[in-house]
Amino acid sequence: MAEKKAEQYYTPPPKLGKWEGFRIFIWNSETHQFLGRTGASWGKILLFYILFYSGLVGFFLAMIAVFYQTIDLKIPKWQQDRSVIGSNPGLGFRPMPPESNVESTLIWYRGNDEENYKYWTEELDKFLEVYKNPSSVPGDGKNIVHCDYENSPGDKVCYVDPKEWRSCSPENNYNYHRSAPCIFLKLNKIYNWIPEYYNETTSLPENMPKDLKEHIHTIKNHHELNTVWVSCEGENPADVENMGPIQYIPRRGFPGYFFPFANKEGYLSPLVAVWFERPTTGVLVNIECKAWAHNIRHDRAERRGSVHFELMID
Ligand SMILES: *[C@@H]1O[C@H](CO)[C@@H](O)[C@H](O)[C@H]1NC(C)=O
Repeated sequence: MAEKKAEQYYTPPPKLGKWEGFRIFIWNSETHQFLGRTGASWGKILLFYILFYSGLVGFFLAMIAVFYQTIDLKIPKWQQDRSVIGSNPGLGFRPMPPESNVESTLIWYRGNDEENYKYWTEELDKFLEVYKNPSSVPGDGKNIVHCDYENSPGDKVCYVDPKEWRSCSPENNYNYHRSAPCIFLKLNKIYNWIPEYYNETTSLPENMPKDLKEHIHTIKNHHELNTVWVSCEGENPADVENMGPIQYIPRRGFPGYFFPFANKEGYLSPLVAVWFERPTTGVLVNIECKAWAHNIRHDRAERRGSVHFELMID
């Protein structure tokens, strides 16, 4: 009896060397186990993970599908005052200083050195590329029509004519080589934002620059008053003097027929090129440009409605 019992005792596996044990762990030919599991066991694990992950992917796709039902890719869900960007558009300028210098707003170059100003003209080339090739925008430019103050684009978008840039044209190096650079201004796009124009010459705001008021008074065609006006000034008396005369090309503002922006295919923002005809060289000139409409408030800290940059030509 006792002998028999002893036979049932657990017998330790035969002592194996480290390498031998490992080899058997990889493939045990006796039990047909691979890495400690039989083929059937591995098959079950594989099946489990296939089901588990397809369930996960299915759930994820279902959630995405539900989410896409709630949004429109062309129309922002949160607009104007309900959105983060709000309803007070910012003003931007081009060319911008190198990205390595994010906070900088200084346009500084040597006017007689092509290598030196090339960076700025190339930046403008890049920015204006779509304006020169409107067929490269979505919709292949088929959506673009010529507009004027009496003809709004309807369900199309308005053409921005690069020929109107004259002395600020790419062919002319945007005049950088003559130490009389052009800076392009652009109003940031806000979906469905409609400007409330200063189109009554009798009620122009106190703080509007005198020369802009005078300009508005010279406009005969009252349709043309439906414009978001632009002004640029030197910030301090010295800057005013050093800035010298400027021209706004092609006109002194963003024409009303470009608004509202409704994300239609091929829309390009209107631009105002500010041509600094004779800035004083060798000094830093602080310039502030503002866009004018009843519903544009100027807030420099928030970068709304106005833009600041410095110009320095050696
Ligand atoms: C002046 O602008 C307002 C919108 O701001 C517009 O409703 C009105 O028709 C404009 N007046 C003229 C004469 O175009």
